[in-house]
Amino acid sequence: MSDLQVRRVRFDFAGDDVPFDWQPARPAFAMQCNLISFFAPGFEKFIVDATRQAIPLMRDPEVVEEANAYLRQEAQHSAAHTSHVRALTRRWPGLKQTLDEVTASFDHLTATKPLAWRLGYTAVTEATFTPYFKVFLDHDDKLFAPGDERVASLFLWHFVEEIEHRSSALRVYDAVHDSYMYRLKTIAGVVKHLHEVVGIISRGFSEHVPDSDGGRYGALIPNGLSFKALRDAQSAARQLTTPGQATYAGVPKREILAMIAGLVRSQAPGHDPTFEDIPAFAGRWFARFDAEPKSAARWYSIGAST
Ligand SMILES: [Fe+2]
Ligand SMILES: [Fe+2]
Repeated sequence: MSDLQVRRVRFDFAGDDVPFDWQPARPAFAMQCNLISFFAPGFEKFIVDATRQAIPLMRDPEVVEEANAYLRQEAQHSAAHTSHVRALTRRWPGLKQTLDEVTASFDHLTATKPLAWRLGYTAVTEATFTPYFKVFLDHDDKLFAPGDERVASLFLWHFVEEIEHRSSALRVYDAVHDSYMYRLKTIAGVVKHLHEVVGIISRGFSEHVPDSDGGRYGALIPNGLSFKALRDAQSAARQLTTPGQATYAGVPKREILAMIAGLVRSQAPGHDPTFEDIPAFAGRWFARFDAEPKSAARWYSIGAST
């Protein structure tokens, strides 16, 4: 039986006071999370579409069950990020165009790429999430706690569930198209597509949010993944922030190196995300959710003593 739990969390994004720069102590981290909110609805719809198409091709009922739970988790993530984005577009309506462009870009992949490629894209990307998010969760006191609690709670929930279903995308891919070499070859296409989407979001943030509301921090997101774009983002960070405001400020170097090693290892042959090094935070989050589900939407004020 699949252990994945589908949790419906009601995040409080009804008001029009959700800040764009929701973590002023670390604006680059705030922007990285905002980027994920604009990326998620399109990406997760892309996952749901591909996984739904893959399920009838699977022979192992256990994988089918896991695939169903996994796509239901992704659908919840997509809905929650959509509500976050909606709160932002109420204040900065131009951002709607940014979301639409990202979603259209994923819809184009769904319409034009074969199923194996789309499942490969998903397996490649999802395998990076556990090492990538582990550092964030290991330092939630610095990264999330000082920020807007509603937004912080959304990302904490999403990141722990990504860790919970860390093996699902690979299991789905292997059940339908068990070829490491093909998956490896999709990486170039994934990077090309991420280049496009990151560029859309970076330009959208800078264009649609006034500098005084934090739009200037849009420049902390590279305008794509080219060398020049990465260099420009670094120089924007030097101009707009202090070193203590960097995403990984205060994170020991060995943890950054472990993350980089984990990202490389996530694409190696025979890698099984099941055996990843899991942040202790994830265990705490699941236990607190079971005891007090409302804590998921207000992580730092509901049940925080447990
Ligand atoms: Fe997700
Ligand atoms: Fe996922």
